[in-house]
Amino acid sequence: MHSPILNGCNLITSHLKAKEHPNTMQLTISFIALASLLTVVNAASYTRTDKVVGPAFNEWFAYQAMPDPTKGRVNYVNKATAQAQNLTFASADTFILRADSKKVVPAGSLGRDSVRMRSFKSYTIHVVTMDIRHMPQGCGTWPAVWEVQEQDYPSLGEVDIVEGVNDLGPNASTLHSSAGCSMRNDTSQMTATWKHLNCEVNGSGGCSASTPSLLSYAPPFNANGGGIYALERTETYMKVWFWPRGTAPPADINANAVKPDAWGKPAAYFSNAQCDFKAKFGAHHVIINLTLCGSWASNPNVYPKTCPQTCISHVDNNTAAFREAYWDFKYLNVYQ
Ligand SMILES: *[C@@H]1O[C@H](CO)[C@@H](O)[C@H](O)[C@H]1NC(C)=O
Ligand SMILES: *[C@@H]1O[C@H](CO)[C@@H](O)[C@H](O)[C@H]1NC(C)=O
Ligand SMILES: *[C@@H]1O[C@H](CO)[C@@H](O)[C@H](O)[C@H]1NC(C)=O
Ligand SMILES: *[C@@H]1O[C@H](CO)[C@@H](O)[C@H](O)[C@H]1NC(C)=O
Ligand SMILES: *[C@@H]1O[C@H](CO)[C@@H](O)[C@H](O)[C@H]1NC(C)=O
Ligand SMILES: *[C@@H]1O[C@H](CO)[C@@H](O)[C@H](O)[C@H]1NC(C)=O
Repeated sequence: MHSPILNGCNLITSHLKAKEHPNTMQLTISFIALASLLTVVNAASYTRTDKVVGPAFNEWFAYQAMPDPTKGRVNYVNKATAQAQNLTFASADTFILRADSKKVVPAGSLGRDSVRMRSFKSYTIHVVTMDIRHMPQGCGTWPAVWEVQEQDYPSLGEVDIVEGVNDLGPNASTLHSSAGCSMRNDTSQMTATWKHLNCEVNGSGGCSASTPSLLSYAPPFNANGGGIYALERTETYMKVWFWPRGTAPPADINANAVKPDAWGKPAAYFSNAQCDFKAKFGAHHVIINLTLCGSWASNPNVYPKTCPQTCISHVDNNTAAFREAYWDFKYLNVYQ
């Protein structure tokens, strides 16, 4: 629920004042109007509808044993296989999702075993908060937590909360849309800088805000113990925050209700000024995936010279190099 909570207290006090001092009526009415306006602006409150911790990840998400749409060197396995091979593991406060690091990839197979999960539910206006202790790292890895409506893609849009390849980042947040959606070159409401302004999939590949934090992705993220990502999506704006471990996240970050208006300047702020969010973004599922190589990570211009061999032969043969290719989630919450 994204309904502004009116502060009834202010209104009652003001009415009483008006009765006692009729000559201040005009002033009081203005005060009432101003107070309501301020509370409407300041008090957007969301209630937790989904608390996903430990074993709940196995029920809240569907395992997607499907061919990777990005043609990765990956074999997405089903739930039974993932659990049998310990590619996913749940304890009371932990959910691990990883690529296999025990077997050489057999010739003729799709690739290294890994896991892709999509939430059963989908959301329009909502907040999602995720405490992540570790994300997949290593040459050839392409991890992402993102939101999408895949039906008739890209007509209902995509929001990438955290995504990168080969430990390179880009530590950016990105929207992908159909034609006719872009951002203004305005950074006044965010700490990031704009990398691309055109949100069209067929344009520069999406509108992308590069976050200033060096700790938001891959080895630096993991060495620092991870951190908390949050997305707030409304019909007029989308905001992404990141709090590295060791910095103080908002007190309500894992509470039953959140007020993101009080969370401070976000890393990324996407405005609807030049993009009709209601038309361009549909009900989105949350997806966690970990592919290897694929159209982005194995691109010869992207796969680093410091990485071994080619992306595919590295993935196939260098099994132990994938020991750090895992997600470790402390929790994921959705608020509406
Ligand atoms: C499965 O993975 C978890 C988390 O990494 C680990 O603690 C556990 O020992 C593993 N279980 C087996 C049977 O390997
Ligand atoms: C996950 O799959 C989607 C396509 O459905 C793709 O856009 C995204 O880049 C993929 N990312 C990873 C890490 O597999
Ligand atoms: C994160 O962004 C900063 C600033 O744009 C950049 O210097 C740094 O290399 C990036 N880190 C990663 C891992 O992409
Ligand atoms: C993007 O371009 C491809 C071909 O270049 C085309 O098939 C597709 O319809 C275009 N998508 C959009 C959303 O314009
Ligand atoms: C935004 O404007 C600044 C200042 O004019 C410019 O340097 C920068 O390249 C622009 N960014 C984009 C993504 O167009
Ligand atoms: C590694 O894997 C590739 C692709 O599967 C294969 O052609 C190659 O022979 C392997 N290389 C080594 C050194 O094992």
